[in-house]
Amino acid sequence: MIRMSDTFYITTPIYYVNSHPHIGHAYTTIVTDVLTRYMKLFGADTYFLTGTDEHGQKIAESAAKSGVEPQEFVDQISQEFREMWPHLHIEHDQFIRTTDFEHKNCVQQILQKIYDQGEIYLKEYEGLYCIGCERFLDEAELEDGNCPDHQNPPELYKENNYFFRMSAYQDWLLKELKHNEKWVYPGRYRNELIQLLKEPLQDLCISRPKSRLKWGIELPFDENFVTYVWFDALLNYASALGWPDGENYNKYWQHVHHTIGKDILKTHGIYWPCMLKAAGMPVFKKLVVHGHWIVEGSKMSKSLGNVVDPLAMKDQLGVDALRYFLLRDMSFGEDSNFTEELAVTRYNGDLANNFGNLLNRSISMSRKNFHGCVPPLGKAEDLEKELHNSFVEGVQKCKEHIIAFQPHRALEHVASLSSQVNKFIDTCKPWALAKEEKDRERLGTVLYTALDMARILVGLLDPVMPKKMCEARVSLGLDEGVIRFDDLTPGLLESGIELPKPTPLFPKMRVPSLEVNPIKNHIEKTLNNSNAEETEWLGIDDFQKMELKVGRIKSCRKVEKSEKLLCSEVDLGEACSRSIVSGAAEFYTPEEMTDRHVLVVANLKPVKLMGHLSEGMILFSDDNGKLVLIDVPEQVNPGVIVR
Ligand code: MSP
Repeated sequence: MIRMSDTFYITTPIYYVNSHPHIGHAYTTIVTDVLTRYMKLFGADTYFLTGTDEHGQKIAESAAKSGVEPQEFVDQISQEFREMWPHLHIEHDQFIRTTDFEHKNCVQQILQKIYDQGEIYLKEYEGLYCIGCERFLDEAELEDGNCPDHQNPPELYKENNYFFRMSAYQDWLLKELKHNEKWVYPGRYRNELIQLLKEPLQDLCISRPKSRLKWGIELPFDENFVTYVWFDALLNYASALGWPDGENYNKYWQHVHHTIGKDILKTHGIYWPCMLKAAGMPVFKKLVVHGHWIVEGSKMSKSLGNVVDPLAMKDQLGVDALRYFLLRDMSFGEDSNFTEELAVTRYNGDLANNFGNLLNRSISMSRKNFHGCVPPLGKAEDLEKELHNSFVEGVQKCKEHIIAFQPHRALEHVASLSSQVNKFIDTCKPWALAKEEKDRERLGTVLYTALDMARILVGLLDPVMPKKMCEARVSLGLDEGVIRFDDLTPGLLESGIELPKPTPLFPKMRVPSLEVNPIKNHIEKTLNNSNAEETEWLGIDDFQKMELKVGRIKSCRKVEKSEKLLCSEVDLGEACSRSIVSGAAEFYTPEEMTDRHVLVVANLKPVKLMGHLSEGMILFSDDNGKLVLIDVPEQVNPGVIVR
């Protein structure tokens, strides 16, 4: 059982103000908002910080290009970020800017403290600097002489600069990372950091001479230099709380979680803990790392013209449906493909056809047959009892997934609970029960159960779709206020309350056509030219919908009363292992399965096979009915994706 702390402080990275907010920034901020709302729902005292990163060479250059003073420039773009968030239903507690007076003051105090301890020194340095990354790169990081992230050659700088003795913290940091398995999530990013620390850690250059860059926080011990932008920016997480003795700092600092994208792992996973240790501050509790949204198979970039504007997407899908898609379709920690087509398909599948349909039909049938009110609950039969049990278990499972930072798995679970209620309605056929007076009690019980389960789903979905779920509560005759987590248990819907006439919450949408999508269009044409019509091609989007991962079978047993089935506990690099049923008992003993590294389809809808939950599929080759496990070399860790 994963434990949750009662106090929860979470941050987003602070965004550079040299570009406008895009869907990647929106994702990080929405995930953080959703996690905060869930933690609140579970009873935690939460604090959510976001903001903008406004110093450094990149920003000074962008301001110069726009022909305005840096301060005016950063004021404008910071405002864009600040104004964007309420449109996306983000409710942060604080928005920090690195140009805030209090922040600058905090950076100077911490620099002075570390300098006084003798851990900052001056030396001449020559190195390759990437302005895009705002850091010096090692030769080994370059690809064909270019920065791998920005595809430009870094510039050679030779100058006097101040250095922070980061190398002194290498052993300590490596030990912390090895000792604390949960410190960085998902685990493969922790492995990446451990790998980086196998090379000698260099001291960190923390200054820029004013002769080259004026736009920054002046070093408190040398007026000829400004502070390196990452040393300045990372400290926002503490300055925002009023380090060293502000009330918020005392209350929240020891509970700090950072959500970041994988592109800034090194700065957060190496520079930051060393800085904190040097400043005598407790290090963060957890670093939570997500992957990137890829657009039509490529990284988003201005030059490719594929940068997705969150406001345009919100206008098309609706804010809450956009939030749902982003959370549901990205396996946390991995990259994911962003297309309108995928977003609309997900919307139609999960929201319009599944959950929305459940709400509409249970409300409409109840209104029609019970004078516009929630029906009375009669005697529960086995079907209702099963559904109740599934929900009691499901609500806890969702909580566990959220606490384990797997929002995609929580939402997958919610979708499966919603399907179960729809199946329950289909099995009980309330429309047929409504024809016979003798079935009236049963009709009431079935509809009450459907409405009551819909109420629980509304509660579970509230952190992701706050506005839509508020509307859903009203359509279920409830108060607008969020349902308490303790009330997400069956049987608490009041019979007899009035149900207003429903308007569909999630009307079905048309999937955008291929013609309007230039990249797809190009692929279409290529295919047409090669007479490919007869083949049933799978688009890359179809393939990418499948989440293939490496798993390690931790244990395996035979399924009782079955000749064919084996049930394996599989480690997929997630907080909890998964249970997966396979039809391989005729070919493998449980002992032969155990400890194997295998391929797993990780996003198959969970099913029950002979009473055993199966949360994925282990892949075998099928040679005329003879199954052979597809082995993966042992050095590939569980959780690694396969594509
Ligand atoms: N200013 C630094 C962070 C300093 S934190 C002390 C920075 N800013 S950024 O504007 O470049 O944005 C950073 C964050 O935006 C990334 O870490 C990531 O969280 C998010 N994303 C940017 N592009 C992204 C995608 N394509 N997909 C998902 N998120 C990505 O780095």
